[in-house]
Amino acid sequence: MNEEQRKQQAQIIPIDNNIERIKNTSSDEMISKYFQTSYEPQSPDIKKARKRRNEDVQIHYDFAIPEDVATIGKGKKFLIRTYGCQMNEHDTEVMAGILTEMGYEPTSDTNDADIILLNTCAIRENAENKVFGEIGHLKPLKLEKPDLIIGVCGCMSQEESVVDRILKKHQHIDLIFGTHNIHRLPQLVKEALFGKEMIVEVWSKEGDVIENLPKVRKGKIKAWVNIMYGCDKFCTYCIVPMTRGKERSRRPQDIIQEVRHLVAQGYQEVTLLGQNVNAYGKDFEDIEYGLGDLMNAIHKIDIPRVRFTTSHPRDFDDRLIEVLAQGGNLLDHIHLPVQSGSSEILKKMNRKYTREDYLELVRKIRKAIPNVTLTTDIIVGFPNETEEQFEETMTLMEEVGFEAAYTYIYSPREGTPAARKKDDVPESVKKQRLYRLNELVNKQSAESMKTYKGKTVKVLVEGESKKDPDVLAGYTEKNKLVNFKGPRSSIGKIVEVEITEAKTWSLDGVMVENTVEVN
Ligand code: 5AD
Ligand code: SF4
Repeated sequence: MNEEQRKQQAQIIPIDNNIERIKNTSSDEMISKYFQTSYEPQSPDIKKARKRRNEDVQIHYDFAIPEDVATIGKGKKFLIRTYGCQMNEHDTEVMAGILTEMGYEPTSDTNDADIILLNTCAIRENAENKVFGEIGHLKPLKLEKPDLIIGVCGCMSQEESVVDRILKKHQHIDLIFGTHNIHRLPQLVKEALFGKEMIVEVWSKEGDVIENLPKVRKGKIKAWVNIMYGCDKFCTYCIVPMTRGKERSRRPQDIIQEVRHLVAQGYQEVTLLGQNVNAYGKDFEDIEYGLGDLMNAIHKIDIPRVRFTTSHPRDFDDRLIEVLAQGGNLLDHIHLPVQSGSSEILKKMNRKYTREDYLELVRKIRKAIPNVTLTTDIIVGFPNETEEQFEETMTLMEEVGFEAAYTYIYSPREGTPAARKKDDVPESVKKQRLYRLNELVNKQSAESMKTYKGKTVKVLVEGESKKDPDVLAGYTEKNKLVNFKGPRSSIGKIVEVEITEAKTWSLDGVMVENTVEVN
C-alpha cells in the first residue's frame, strides 16, 4: 500500500472508540488525572531530592501474573523496540519476561505483532525525536490493524510534556506507562485490550522495589543485574532523577541470589546496573552496606567476569577501590563519567567535585589498580561554556589518559535547571568542540589499542562478527572488541587470542590453540 492509499484508508476506516474517547477528553484533564503524587517535573532541586530520599522504600516479593490474563497472549506476538541505555535494555528483558508468561511470543516484524511497545529514552532531544518519528510511522499500521496494541513506556512516558503531546497528537497509541509501572504490564495490557480509553498509568507510585519479576534475557553469555534504581544526584542538565525517581537499592541477598542463579545457568559475565551505582546502599536504614561490600560478596561467587555501571566520582569510595584492587572476577576497567574538565562547569552541573578531586580519585584508583583502564562520558557545550573551559576538558582527557569516551553535545531537557539558562554558545561552535574532542578520543583509543599488538588477551566469545560469519567476536577484560578466527565451539567461552592488528576501536587476532576454558 502506498502512502496515498494509506491516507485515503485512514479516512474511511472507522476509528475505534478508544481514539474517539481520547479526542473528546481534554488532554489537560487527562494530565491532571495521571500526574499526581510526588511528580514535580518543573522544579527539581536538592532539597526535594533529600526529602524524597527519606520516604521509605518497600520491597515486594509477591509478583505474579494474574490468572485472568495468564493466557491472554496465546497465539499472539509481541515486539519491543528499545531506545537508550542498558537500564532500558534490561527493562525490556523484564517486559519480555512478563509478556512471555502471558502466552505472547516474540517477533521482530512489526506487521506480525499484536502488541508493540516502544521503550523510550529521554536523555537527549534527538533520542525523543527518534521515538516520535517511530510513533508516526506506526499510525498506518494501527489503522490497518485496529486490534494492534501500541504502547509507549520507558523514560519519555515519565515526562508530562510527552504524555500531553501523545494525548493531543498521537491518538493511535493505546497505552502509556511509566518506568515504575512495569510490573503492572499484565493488567495494563488487559485494560488496553478490553477498555475503551487510551490507558495512561504513569508514576502511580514511586519508590518501591519489585522483586521476582520474570525476565527473558537477551543471550546466554552476559547478563545485566539491577542493583539499584533511580538517582538523587540532580545534575543540572539531567532528566534521569525525574524519569527514574529516587534512589532505592535492592537488598544484597536478592542481588546475590540472582547472580548465583545466573552462574547456575552458565552465564560468564554480569554487569551490575544502576544510574549511580556508587550510591548503592545509602538508602538502607538498618544496615551499613555499600557497593564495596556488595562487590566483595560477588567477588567470591564463581562467575568469571563482573562489571558495574554507571559510576559517579563523588561517591566512589576507598572501600570500593580496596575491593576492586583484589582483581579476580572484578575487572580492571572502570567507566567513570567526568562530564567536564572545568571546575566551574562542574559546579554549574552540580556534579559536587572539582577537576582536582577527579584527578585525585584517578590517582588513588591507579595506585591501587595500576593496570586499570578508564573510560568516561563527556558533555560539550554546556550553557555558556567558554573556549578555555572546553580546553580544560581536552587537557583532562589527556591527563587521565581515557581509552574511550562517550561524547555528547549538551541537550536542554525541559524541567531541568540548566534548561532555564540562557546560552550564548552558537551550535556551530558546539559542533566544532565535539569534533575536536572526538579527534582526541579517537587518537587516545587508537594509541591504547596499539599497545596490544603481539600480546595475548582473554576474550569472552559472544558470537560471529556482524560483518563476516567466519570471524568470531568478543570482548577482553578491559572491554576491547576483538575479532578473530576460531572454532564456533568457543562461543560462550573465554579463550586466549593473540593480537595481530590494532584498529581505532577494535583489535584483530588469532586464537591461541587449546585455550578453550571448560566451564
Ligand atoms: N545533554 C547531553 N548529554 C547528556 N547526558 C545526560 N544528560 C544529558 C543532556 N541533557 C549524558 C551524560 C551522561 C550520559 C548517559 O548522557 O554524559 O553520563
Ligand atoms: Fe543524571 Fe547520572 Fe547525574 Fe544522576 S548522576 S543526575 S543519572 S548524570
